[in-house]
Amino acid sequence: MVRSVVRGIGSYVPPKVVSNEDLSALMSTSDEWIRSRSGIRERRFAEEGVYCTDLALEAVRRALGDADMEPSDLDFIIFATLSPDHHFPGNACYLQAKMGISDIGCLDVRNQCTGFLYSLAVADSFIRTGMYRNILVVGSEVHSSAMDFSDRGRDVAVLFGDGAGAVILSPSENGDRGVLYTELHADGQYARALYMDVWDISRKPFLGPEAVQSDVIWPKMDGKTVFKHAVIRLIQVFQSALKKSGVRPEDIKYVIPHQANMRINHLVAEKIGIPPEKFLHNMQKYGNTTAASLPLLLDETYRAGKLEKGDLLLLLAFGSGFTWGASLLRW
Ligand code: UT7
Repeated sequence: MVRSVVRGIGSYVPPKVVSNEDLSALMSTSDEWIRSRSGIRERRFAEEGVYCTDLALEAVRRALGDADMEPSDLDFIIFATLSPDHHFPGNACYLQAKMGISDIGCLDVRNQCTGFLYSLAVADSFIRTGMYRNILVVGSEVHSSAMDFSDRGRDVAVLFGDGAGAVILSPSENGDRGVLYTELHADGQYARALYMDVWDISRKPFLGPEAVQSDVIWPKMDGKTVFKHAVIRLIQVFQSALKKSGVRPEDIKYVIPHQANMRINHLVAEKIGIPPEKFLHNMQKYGNTTAASLPLLLDETYRAGKLEKGDLLLLLAFGSGFTWGASLLRW
């Protein structure tokens, strides 16, 4: 049986570290509030002039190096982001050009914090049907240009950071490793619980002077609703993925959960009875990097030497849309 294995992985965060204290100088917040509500201590912000695809390019270079591959070895690019360089065309096209290649297909996935899982599922399907062999899957975000650093936006601005992660998926005939099972969900009723309507095509013009002066250019979040649904959906999808794939909780080496809020992840771990040390985190250092969060954490775990061939990992994500999902991966 053909399965999609991770042949190479890489990640990149911009060098500028922004601590909770740094944010306290911009708005009414505090290190104590941010840490106790979210677990985040600092995040990275890209400098002015840096695009989402620039962060992605660094992550891709590392993934190609890990796979011992050249850009010309790739057959397809999937790019997950909610902070594309421009509204159109998609980031995968920009990235392709920056990689110095042309011709291969490029697809952008707009599924926010679950974007990487959706992208992985699409890549896995292309590989298993034999349509493509080597697929680059990227999650990358530059949030720091699109957050309101006044008191009005403090509930959102303290949570998010910039970063990128990339994997190269390739087919393996030895069917016991790779993506074993994926489950994807969404509930569009909650689209406006976490959204940004800067590009509202019903406004004519969509972004006139009045709109620019108003708060439509900033992301908005009903934090309590997002929190509640995240806990419920992550528990559900964890239990469903294990049941449908016949895996026991004790078979899982690590859960690689989306990095939005430590309290969310602790509640999920407690409810499903997974020891906290199996639930990995790096949000303390990077905040919520949305589509980059899973590949960034996976890459750090791999580079820290914590993964051995054959380890069973469960990737979990929940975010705006609402969208959520789980993917079982045998390393
Ligand atoms: O991938 C999905 C992405 N999003 C999430 O995962 C977010 C999920 N939600 C959350 O993480 C939490 O709801 C937050 C961390 C956003 C907020 O925590 P909370 O315990 O739900 O706080 P709250 O919204 O009830 O706010 C409590 C107080 C409010 O003041 P009052 O009304 O009690 O006077 C807020 O105005 O905290 C205030 N507040 C802040 N204070 C200091 C809101 N943001 C801040 C801030 N610093 N940054």
